[in-house]
Amino acid sequence: MAKINLKFKDGRTSQIIMLDKKPADLLCGELKKEKYQYVVLFCDSQVAKLYGRAVEQKISSVTKTDLITFPVGEQSKSFPVFAKIIGQVAEKKYPRDTLIIALGGGVTGDLTGFIASIYMRGVDLWQVPTTLLAMVDSSIGGKNGINSRYAKNIIGTFYQPRKILVTPQFLQSLPKSQLQEGMAELIKTLILFDRASFTKLENNPINLNRPNLTKLVPLVKTCMVAKGRAVIADEREVTGLRSLLNFGHTVGHAIEKVSNHRISHGQAVATGMIVESYMSYLLGKIKKSEVLKIKKILQQYGFQDSVDFPHKMLYNTIKLDKKNRGGGVCLPLVAAIGKVAKNRSKWVFSFPRNRFEELLKESIELTNEAVK
Ligand SMILES: NC(=O)c1ccc[n+]([C@@H]2O[C@H](COP(=O)([O-])OP(=O)(O)OC[C@H]3O[C@@H](n4cnc5c(N)ncnc54)[C@H](O)[C@@H]3O)[C@@H](O)[C@H]2O)c1
Ligand SMILES: [Zn+2]
Repeated sequence: MAKINLKFKDGRTSQIIMLDKKPADLLCGELKKEKYQYVVLFCDSQVAKLYGRAVEQKISSVTKTDLITFPVGEQSKSFPVFAKIIGQVAEKKYPRDTLIIALGGGVTGDLTGFIASIYMRGVDLWQVPTTLLAMVDSSIGGKNGINSRYAKNIIGTFYQPRKILVTPQFLQSLPKSQLQEGMAELIKTLILFDRASFTKLENNPINLNRPNLTKLVPLVKTCMVAKGRAVIADEREVTGLRSLLNFGHTVGHAIEKVSNHRISHGQAVATGMIVESYMSYLLGKIKKSEVLKIKKILQQYGFQDSVDFPHKMLYNTIKLDKKNRGGGVCLPLVAAIGKVAKNRSKWVFSFPRNRFEELLKESIELTNEAVK
């Protein structure tokens, strides 16, 4: 269906391959082109049951293969799980020409990517995303890591996968709540970069109870290309272009935190996108009609369009955010659907804390007022 080559400035390449094939066939096809001595497949226990064991069996006819599994969920991005797995890998003394494959969602991708980047100072990595979120977001870009008790994703590296193999077939077994998580990041990417696809999605909504893959797959592809472009231009988040993908996340992360993670990442980012769009409106950068369109599409996918927490609570969390630089609060803003606002030559806007607090208060009022 599609091949996208990401070429980094120093010559490294990552290839995104999207084919409508059975997962095991897709992997075998690609493995036959390579000469790895060993393949180590990493999955959480759920994905292992659904796909991992069958894939392991099939690819073991091509190369020596092992399957390493760990418990489902965010708690696997932790030191104890990491220590156990890196121990298993070291004990087996896998050779330098081993390929590590992350088969799963963002948790698997982040944990596995980190291990691949440090085992023997780095062995080849392929990402095989099985959730919508991992397809449109986490499998592309080379960020990986685990959490510490002090902060999420604080221990990790940048390490590009050689290949990202995508098949829409995984989406058939994905529960609705997981599809919705991915939809938040998908809609985010369209708001930032692709008005035509946003309009297509507006006019032709996807039923998350019975997703029509013919409609969904082109949107996934659009997001992969957009994320790939941002990553190539700004791999390590230096120029700010990659930071555009944080749209909705400043307020979103705060909502997630103050709700004690009762509100999921996708849900919180969706509400965060509405609030941050109103911020842009207050600054005269986007028309109200555009903000209302953003809000409407998010409502359509079941996301909350109001904020239940006092602005001060969110502000107190935001001011501690690790993305802040120089004492102020930094975030990207949109100028229209498909168009980001530029701050002279920069992609992100920086506000002194007290100005940001004011803006946050007013934008939450606007967000909540509109739903009364
Ligand atoms: N590295 C990055 O750039 C980046 C970007 C965004 C998010 N992330 C990380 O991604 C993680 C969240 O990812 P996620 O939402 O994919 O979570 P996840 O990996 O925990 O997967 C969610 C659930 O779906 C199940 N699952 C996976 N594929 C399935 C399938 N095809 N059918 C049925 N069930 C399936 C899993 O077993 C799990 O229970 C977070 O840790 C976040 O920090 C990383
Ligand atoms: Zn996100």
